[in-house]
Amino acid sequence: MINQLHARLHRPEQGWDPIADAYAHRYAQTEWHKLDLERVQRIEQWIGGFEGRRVLDLGSGPGQYAVAFAQRGAQVTCHDVSANYLAYLQRKAGELGVTDRLSCSLGYLDEAPRMLRTSFDLVFNRVCWYYGFGDRSFAKVVFSLISPGGYGYVDTPHMAFNRAQHGWSSRARMWLNHRLAIKIGHPFPPHGRLAKLFAGYPIDSMLVDYSTPDHDRIWLRKATNAP
Ligand SMILES: C[S@@+](CC[C@H](N)C(=O)[O-])C[C@H]1O[C@@H](n2cnc3c(N)ncnc32)[C@H](O)[C@@H]1O
Repeated sequence: MINQLHARLHRPEQGWDPIADAYAHRYAQTEWHKLDLERVQRIEQWIGGFEGRRVLDLGSGPGQYAVAFAQRGAQVTCHDVSANYLAYLQRKAGELGVTDRLSCSLGYLDEAPRMLRTSFDLVFNRVCWYYGFGDRSFAKVVFSLISPGGYGYVDTPHMAFNRAQHGWSSRARMWLNHRLAIKIGHPFPPHGRLAKLFAGYPIDSMLVDYSTPDHDRIWLRKATNAP
């Protein structure tokens, strides 16, 4: 409710951008260097290749994964609330010759279904789950964007991430989200919540990867007969 209200008052298409240009550049430079090609390859094997696949990078940031998918033949849509990040990734796509395989959409994560009005062979969501309006509603958003028989990949830090540095405000907001499902701002979800939420949807398979102690990673395949 509070996050929806915030979104009504702060509109990216009117120039509001939560990410300053200088920060976007710093983050982009670090994250482009840290691009995990092994993860890209694992995803490629899992979905049976990127060639001709329609991929949504939901919360694409500076586009390091989106461009890697496009370089492997996918048609990628990047949806993000930050025009600064989208501008950065368009420049990178131009430099690397994949502009024709990338399109951009500016809006809040939860607005993607209404704005894009289509579904995808793969929905990729990395380290931005917690910017969704609410965990339950955002699971619905992600699931609705996957085509029947398509794939969803979510990687998010959970409540244990950076625990030592949480102040009272972020601890209180995480407690509210955990115990009462009231989300104010961007608290990390409780460990295990995503798997529970997606288990309630028609899926063919779900792999839950908890190998990094402070992250939840979910690999799921939507049932082929799901609406
Ligand atoms: C940590 S970055 C992750 C970017 C990218 N997925 C990656 O793997 O590097 C978080 C992303 O969420 C986006 N985002 C969505 N809603 C946001 C909001 N309300 N406030 C800040 N960032 C938001 C940011 O623009 C940014 O691209």
